[in-house]
Formats: sequence, C-alpha cells, structure tokens
Amino acid sequence: MKVLILGGHGTLGTAIVKELNKSKKEYEIITAGRKSGDVQVDMTSKESIEAMFKKIGNVDHIVVAAGSAAIKPIEELTQEDIMFSINNKMLGQVNIVLIGMSFVNENGSITLITGKAKDEPIKEGTMLALTNGAVMAFAKAAACDIKKNIRINSISPSVFDESLELYGDYFKDVKPVPVEKAAIAFVNVIENDTNGEEIKVY
Ligand SMILES: NC(=O)c1ccc[n+]([C@@H]2O[C@H](COP(=O)([O-])OP(=O)(O)OC[C@H]3O[C@@H](n4cnc5c(N)ncnc54)[C@H](OP(=O)(O)O)[C@@H]3O)[C@@H](O)[C@H]2O)c1
Repeated sequence: MKVLILGGHGTLGTAIVKELNKSKKEYEIITAGRKSGDVQVDMTSKESIEAMFKKIGNVDHIVVAAGSAAIKPIEELTQEDIMFSINNKMLGQVNIVLIGMSFVNENGSITLITGKAKDEPIKEGTMLALTNGAVMAFAKAAACDIKKNIRINSISPSVFDESLELYGDYFKDVKPVPVEKAAIAFVNVIENDTNGEEIKVY
C-alpha cells in the first residue's frame, strides 16, 4: 500500500509515519513538503500539486498533515490574512482532493486535517475556525458525491502536547492530546471502512 503524507516531516506527519511503520500492514510511505520530504509540493498551488502527482503516480492513500491559518485578533485581520488562511488550510486541502482523487487507486482513501478550534473557540482563532469548519464540511460532502470508490474523511485533533510551547498561550483552557493519539486516528481511518466521517481526537 502506497501512502502519500503531505507534511510528513512535521509534528503530526512524523507521528503518522511512526504509527504506519508500527502497523501489521506494509506501507510504502512517500512524504511531501515544500522543502522537506521525498517529493516537493506547495499545496497552495494547483500546478505544484499536479506536478507532484505526475511525478509520483498513483497511490492508495493520501493523508494531509499540513496547512496553516492566521492566528490574529479579529479586529486586526487583513484581507491578506484571510486569503492566506483560505488558500493554505482550506483550498490547499480541497485541491488535494480534487486533483488527488484521479491518482488514488480504487478502495483507497483521502484523510484531511482540521482541528478543535472550530468546536471550541480559542483566542484569536477565527481563521482556524473558518478553515477547519469548511474542510470538515467539504470532506463529508465530497465522500457522498464522489463516484470513484474512495473514502474521504477528516480528523479534528485538539492541540498536541508536543505543540504547547508554540501554541499553548492560545489554547489555555483546552485539554491537549498526545500527537500519537491523532496519528493513531489517521492509521485507523486508512485501515478501517470509515467514510464521510469527522473523527474528533479531543
Ligand atoms: N500542532 C497542533 O497542536 C495541531 C492541532 C490540531 C491540528 N493541527 C493541524 O495539523 C496540521 C499539521 O500541524 P503540525 O503542527 O504537525 O505542523 P508542522 O509541524 O508545522 O508541520 C507542517 C508540515 O507541513 C509541511 N507544509 C507546510 N506548508 C505546506 C504547504 N503549503 N505545502 C506542502 N507542505 C507544507 C511542512 O514542511 P515544509 O516546511 O517542508 O513545507 C511540514 O512538514 C496543520 O494543519 C495543523 O493546523 C495541529
């Protein structure tokens, strides 16, 4: 089974690679990032995503463990912040599905990433909420609409213990989870029949 992991060298991506390597099933893992990874891609660019799939060919599963949104007080949000967030965390993942679905083998899957800030508002988190909510709704609807036999799901983790140093100030009242727990959820989605679901890791 060939698995493409966008952001495979980040905090979450590294944990997903580790869990896949622990599985009884055998996976050929391809990691992708703008600078890191086996293959380079900028998921904010449709052309870059197309070029990556032309290079690697078909896969069985796609996992997204990348995507950013602005964290800023609502009063200070600029059009640039909004467009950055939409292009990155939201449109990046939408295009991974729209372009990637032709390159996923039958019975394969695509798993997107959202986050708890859409369910439990955090300080300065409107762009996280906007993009996470959009990706979750898109994944559910896409799973119903797609004609090819591919499963589409999204995973919404809480902030990771491992990321508290970076984001802890914004998630003060939110219970963190170990990144391993989120990574296990990704592997479960790949290995089970889950389709059109949002899996919360809170
Ligand atoms: N950290 C948390 O507590 C947490 C909690 C819930 C949800 N999430 C979500 O989980 C995802 C991963 O978070 P993380 O903390 O693991 O991030 P991270 O450690 O910063 O890793 C992000 C990875 O994605 C790659 N990347 C970034 N932008 C990209 C782009 N435009 N195109 C392709 N690859 C790109 C980076 O590699 P390059 O630099 O080489 O591109 C890197 O490998 C994000 O969507 C985040 O919102 C995170």
